[in-house]
Amino acid sequence: MSKPKLFSTHVLFEEPRRRLAEHFDVEYWTGSERPSRPEVLQRVAGKGALICLLTERVDQELLDAAGPNLRIVANVAVGYDNIDVPACTERKIAVSNTPGVLDETTADFTWALLMAVARRLVEGDRLARSGGWLQWNFDLLCGTDIWGKTLGIIGLGRIGRAVARRASGFGMRVIYNSTSRAPAEIEQELHAEYLTQEQVLRQADFLSLHVPLNQKTRGLIGREQLAKMKKTAFLVNTTRGPVVQEAALVQALEDGVIAGAALDVFEREPLISDGLRRDNVVLAPHLGSASIETRTKMAMIAAENAIAFFAGKRPPTILNPEVWPRS
Ligand code: GLV
Repeated sequence: MSKPKLFSTHVLFEEPRRRLAEHFDVEYWTGSERPSRPEVLQRVAGKGALICLLTERVDQELLDAAGPNLRIVANVAVGYDNIDVPACTERKIAVSNTPGVLDETTADFTWALLMAVARRLVEGDRLARSGGWLQWNFDLLCGTDIWGKTLGIIGLGRIGRAVARRASGFGMRVIYNSTSRAPAEIEQELHAEYLTQEQVLRQADFLSLHVPLNQKTRGLIGREQLAKMKKTAFLVNTTRGPVVQEAALVQALEDGVIAGAALDVFEREPLISDGLRRDNVVLAPHLGSASIETRTKMAMIAAENAIAFFAGKRPPTILNPEVWPRS
């Protein structure tokens, strides 16, 4: 019997490739640059499964291009704002994401950014490697203490909790706001206080965003919210760019409304507003989950979802279980 056809918009890593080869007739996008939209539409045609990255927009147009054979879209990301899930559900196409495996890795990176901006690490690196560092100086690149400060978290889901957990090593006070309050034992474990969003904005020295991007969170942090923050506070964003109104952030940085920002995500990736290229902003190209171990696990989860589906089993991290079992 011939194997079902699968298109993956990335070559992934060896382990998931081996696993997929056992079950699918796989076509990978092997270009060094991401495939263009017409290339994705052309390659997905007639496939039974699609493994895609957060850069692929899975919408009616793509589903039309894929045709009726498409059964599952496995996103190699926990966020799935790139996928029109209701449109998939309507066509009885399963959608899966990769929850759970990237929380600690993304939390590590959130802290890397937070620490880099607070202690001016990137500025220091630039100076040291430029040859421009001529003598030690008492007030050279003095930053801001992290220990003992207040960490504000918006969105205390899995990643938000992993970020909060790390704060105890820094003796920080942790405050948070989330759509729903965490259970008491989680608050105790994290020493996290639930406050209103306004209180979190006003009290945080470091404000870290961990909400998913959806209709409610798009543009969540704009001029009004930034104005509530301390002048000495830093904004850290490792979730999705459009959660922050980038133009408002640029203005706030220009006007000294906040002290700085550390950003892994942007409104129009990979474009970055020129106004963010400042010394008090640390920029990263969406690397939150980018460790070999975690990216391998993410690709394996996507592979296992596709494999399960075609083996007649429920995809383990299906997002629209109402399409399962497929009638
Ligand atoms: C990365 O941004 C993800 O959503 O997994």
